[in-house]
Amino acid sequence: MKTKITELFNIQHPIIQGGMHYVGLAELAAAVSNAGGLGILTGLTQGTPEKLAAEIARCRKMTDKPFGVNMTFLPSVTPPDYPGLFKVIVESGVKAVETAGNNPAEWLPMLKEADIKVIHKCTSVRHALKAQEIGCDAVSVDGFECGGHPGEDDIPNMILLPRAADELKIPFVSSGGQADARSLVASLAMGADGVNMGTRFMATVEAPIHQNVKDAIVAASELDTRLIMRPLRNTERVLNNPAVERVLTVEKAKGSAITFEDILTDVAGVYPKVMIDGDMDVGAWSCGMVAGLIHDIPTCKELIDEIMAEAEILIRTRLEGMLSHIKSAAT
Ligand SMILES: Cc1cc2nc3c(=O)[nH]c(=O)nc-3n(C[C@H](O)[C@H](O)[C@H](O)COP(=O)(O)O)c2cc1C
Repeated sequence: MKTKITELFNIQHPIIQGGMHYVGLAELAAAVSNAGGLGILTGLTQGTPEKLAAEIARCRKMTDKPFGVNMTFLPSVTPPDYPGLFKVIVESGVKAVETAGNNPAEWLPMLKEADIKVIHKCTSVRHALKAQEIGCDAVSVDGFECGGHPGEDDIPNMILLPRAADELKIPFVSSGGQADARSLVASLAMGADGVNMGTRFMATVEAPIHQNVKDAIVAASELDTRLIMRPLRNTERVLNNPAVERVLTVEKAKGSAITFEDILTDVAGVYPKVMIDGDMDVGAWSCGMVAGLIHDIPTCKELIDEIMAEAEILIRTRLEGMLSHIKSAAT
């Protein structure tokens, strides 16, 4: 399948693995890229320019295919060394960057000069248009169903994707709720040129996270995620657990008077404990509603091959079959 996204990133299949804190390490990014998708390392998980350079080098040893780096802009008291991290990305020869969290305009000139393609992840049409205006090459349109930060507009992909298609000139991928061939074909029908998946790639053999996390995703249904931090306008979709229940109780009790400090212990520094140690109830961690569609733990290659093979069957048999049925009924 050739789309504007496969051409832009020089990849075989229109499937991207979104950056994920403590998940998007070299093992996963390389496995996705080796399977013909675009694997993404998560820049902030490495934290320092030196560690990011080492992780990029490690990933390059595992794949000769293109892969990218996610750079997330977060409100932070002590911001990461963004200039140093971007310098490493440019010097490393990586050809794709996924930005998220805030406007990446400041970094675009240096990325463009190095011929790095930038896909900006955003949760609204107005932010997607802004990304287009400032010169991003593509956008990842992240619907309300997504794991992580869905923004504050609450527009699901069934509306958001056709709205994006109506407004955007640059290519976009659908993000949030994408799991299988049905997601891909529906996204293409709604105007996207590919899909971005987060939660689905966590439940793969190569995802370098604790087995408990993978098992929790397989066991979860579409009813098991919750939205936290809405009163702080930093909404995050997470898998429900006792820590999440605590956060929601505090949010209810404090109302608009809540501060980040009120929930700090249940939301800060949680990722290594969950993803490495497998301590599932220690705090809140991102997970999409798409967990309800995830029932197995395949390799990345098995997952991507199955999506592409079934997408072809869906298009050629189910969809085209309906057309000929209509035609023959009309004659
Ligand atoms: C555990 C987890 C961690 C994530 N961390 C980040 C991150 O650090 N930066 C980012 O831009 N997106 C992050 N995301 C969002 C994903 O890149 C992707 O946009 C999202 O998972 C898509 O929704 P889905 O989970 O329904 O596929 C994270 C998602 C998950 C599930």
